[in-house]
Amino acid sequence: MGRLSSETAVLALGRTEIQAPRVHWISVDFRQPTATWSAPVIAWLRHQKPSVSAFVHASGVVYSDVVERTTLDEWEATWRVNVASAFKLGQVLSPYLADGASVVLVGSVDAWYASQDGPAAAYGASKAALLGLVRHWASEWGPRGIRVNGVAPGALTSGNGPSAQFAENITGRIALQRLGQPGEVADVIQFLLSPQAAYITGAWIPVDGGLNIRY
Ligand SMILES: NC(=O)c1ccc[n+]([C@@H]2O[C@H](COP(=O)([O-])OP(=O)(O)OC[C@H]3O[C@@H](n4cnc5c(N)ncnc54)[C@H](OP(=O)(O)O)[C@@H]3O)[C@@H](O)[C@H]2O)c1
Repeated sequence: MGRLSSETAVLALGRTEIQAPRVHWISVDFRQPTATWSAPVIAWLRHQKPSVSAFVHASGVVYSDVVERTTLDEWEATWRVNVASAFKLGQVLSPYLADGASVVLVGSVDAWYASQDGPAAAYGASKAALLGLVRHWASEWGPRGIRVNGVAPGALTSGNGPSAQFAENITGRIALQRLGQPGEVADVIQFLLSPQAAYITGAWIPVDGGLNIRY
């Protein structure tokens, strides 16, 4: 939020309330049925009729376990929070996206690779689905001048990043020999939203410090 100009109005969705100037927060739990959480969002959009210049989807949840122990509830929750919410928001925002708008989805290196530190097939599959969304939305919305890209973080110091138990192991597989900072991902999102990225669409940028590039 701190990176936005004082002119920028933001619609923030999530479970944690955000109180900031020019931010309108709508409480949503993406684990709920899509029609339930999206109703207030759709109502707000219909009322405000905003011209949307940027849309960032970053919600993500991880259930890390072998496939035999992953429950259907965990699979469905992963899909709802990580993928279905992005799809529905793209659908409801589409009429309001301004010509030349920029969309960024937050994926993960897990879309391409299984971690040595623990299996997370549901998570990896959900992030891989975002690869398709980026390509297809970039194609659908390209004629409107709307760019759609993704960032793929590796292992960060925050949020769902590796616990202390795994941090040392994974750091040894990172070329830069350290975990990433959330701000370093935000920098790349900010670049993709900016005019400096005007000719980039349908692309994924790894933000992983060179994870797993050693032969
Ligand atoms: N940390 C890493 O090492 C890493 C690596 C690769 C990719 N990523 C990706 O980076 C993104 C941010 O993750 P993070 O690691 O920074 O973890 P985080 O701080 O826990 O962020 C997760 C985000 O997802 C939202 N979210 C989770 N469950 C939700 C629900 N049921 N309904 C609505 N929103 C929900 C949270 O919003 P509320 O708290 O407001 O609900 C929060 O903004 C995720 O997409 C994650 O997959 C992270």
